[in-house]
Amino acid sequence: MRRLRLGVLISGTGRTLLNLLRQQQAGALPAEVVVIVSSRADAPGNAFAAQFGVPLVVVDARQVKGSAFAEAVYAALDQYAVDLVVMAGFLKRLPVRPAYAGRVINIHPSLLPLFGGKGMYGERVHQAVLEAGVKVSGCTVHFVTDELDAGPIILQACVPVEDDDTPETLGARVFAEECRLYPEAIRLYAAGRLRIEGRRVRILPPAPADERSDPRVLSGDA
Ligand code: GRF
Repeated sequence: MRRLRLGVLISGTGRTLLNLLRQQQAGALPAEVVVIVSSRADAPGNAFAAQFGVPLVVVDARQVKGSAFAEAVYAALDQYAVDLVVMAGFLKRLPVRPAYAGRVINIHPSLLPLFGGKGMYGERVHQAVLEAGVKVSGCTVHFVTDELDAGPIILQACVPVEDDDTPETLGARVFAEECRLYPEAIRLYAAGRLRIEGRRVRILPPAPADERSDPRVLSGDA
């Protein structure tokens, strides 16, 4: 099977990016990060580009505003012929162009649709989870649509919320699951096993070798 070409979008520490690069190095991903696009010139995660020998494109959102921002991001994705766009702590909105519909995924550190939406990122999510008193949290991998944190859900994983949790301890438990779940979603995508049916994503059984060799999302209307 052709290796999927990934474009990873970051804004911060790049922990999720690092996990993907390590999985790639270990041969656990049928995919290759071909470009990293960062929305901040000073994002610590930018350093992983040089470390792993992956091209880095910085589109600094403080300088490149409005529609020019999306233009520049898509120019980079087009230039590197990206098959799947993987958001990894990317804090900017990116309207999904028709050519990329069903080809942009994100991971969110809660069980969506709970604790998502505007302003819900990083420790704020885990703080809100603790304040709500829920007993389980987790993470969600979903397709990105123009509605924030509301695209069709691909995979979710749960973790317990412990009585003495802080946002840090809960966040660490959730992140450990993220490190397992995101690669799993990418493997399913690469195998052509994800079919979007309205708001739902059906996970198809594994196909015999070669039958679904073209990595893509199957349309439910097909
Ligand atoms: C992860 O927790 C992920 O759920 C969210 O951003 C975090 C990774 O960002 N989308 P970073 O790598 O720490 O910047």
